[in-house]
Amino acid sequence: MSAVLSLVIARGANGVIGQRGQIPWRIPADMKHFKTVTMGKPCVMGRKTWDSLPKKPLPGRTNIVVTRDTNFHEEGAVVAHTLEDAFARAEGDLCDRLLAALRAGDAAGGDRRGKQSAALLVVRDGGGYEGRNDRYIDLRVDDHPDAPAELARLFGVWDTTMLVRTDEPLEASIELVGEVQRRLAAVGALDIEASGSLDDATTAALAEWAGRYNLEGRLRDDGMLSSHLVAELRDVTPDVS
Ligand SMILES: NC(=O)c1ccc[n+]([C@@H]2O[C@H](COP(=O)([O-])OP(=O)(O)OC[C@H]3O[C@@H](n4cnc5c(N)ncnc54)[C@H](OP(=O)(O)O)[C@@H]3O)[C@@H](O)[C@H]2O)c1
Repeated sequence: MSAVLSLVIARGANGVIGQRGQIPWRIPADMKHFKTVTMGKPCVMGRKTWDSLPKKPLPGRTNIVVTRDTNFHEEGAVVAHTLEDAFARAEGDLCDRLLAALRAGDAAGGDRRGKQSAALLVVRDGGGYEGRNDRYIDLRVDDHPDAPAELARLFGVWDTTMLVRTDEPLEASIELVGEVQRRLAAVGALDIEASGSLDDATTAALAEWAGRYNLEGRLRDDGMLSSHLVAELRDVTPDVS
């Protein structure tokens, strides 16, 4: 699983990015671009960049300030060590740890706009619906009196109903395929004797059944079986073994 961390930088031809604590040029189109690509997302900056902001915090973004100063407390700034500690201590997958860090940052003061809106975006290769895109988790709360808590609630619903955290391929052993065939027969998708062989009829029946539940994306063409698909099939046929 991976998260996207983007570096946004304006750099002069000679490599310079700052001068005497300020940006050495004033280009409205550049500032507009920065605003467009960062809006609604957490924005991490060094303490000196924070100091240099003419208006603090950057609106519409969680302003995360990196500093070694443990006494640093400023309205609108989430201090990185709070987030980092929470992230390091949290258990679970990346999504759980990101959410824990977000909530810890909020509890430590958060920022005004970050309390109004919150988002969780986790990408991974083919992690989206039917593997058609990389958006493994893409949830956002745009306007809520307690946005981080609402985001956590939405995530809980998503986690229970939609999220497939692991989908290990299972070996199509005679025992497992036989079980799958009995379960497919129980739901009326297959009308042959359970042979334990992943033959064309069984593959077609599995595809037909998966289609009923919008699970076509879990079908495999490498002779293995999706653990998620098997778990779902077991779920709807509790009396079959
Ligand atoms: N052109 C652009 O795209 C662009 C973008 C942003 C900023 N800028 C310019 O860049 C300049 C500021 O950049 P800068 O590099 O001088 O300063 P900076 O990165 O904004 O801030 C440096 C401070 O960050 C904290 N820090 C750095 N590494 C840390 C770590 N590993 N752990 C904890 N804290 C850490 C320290 O804060 P403490 O001293 O509090 O411990 C350090 O003094 C300004 O001129 C600004 O206008 C340009």
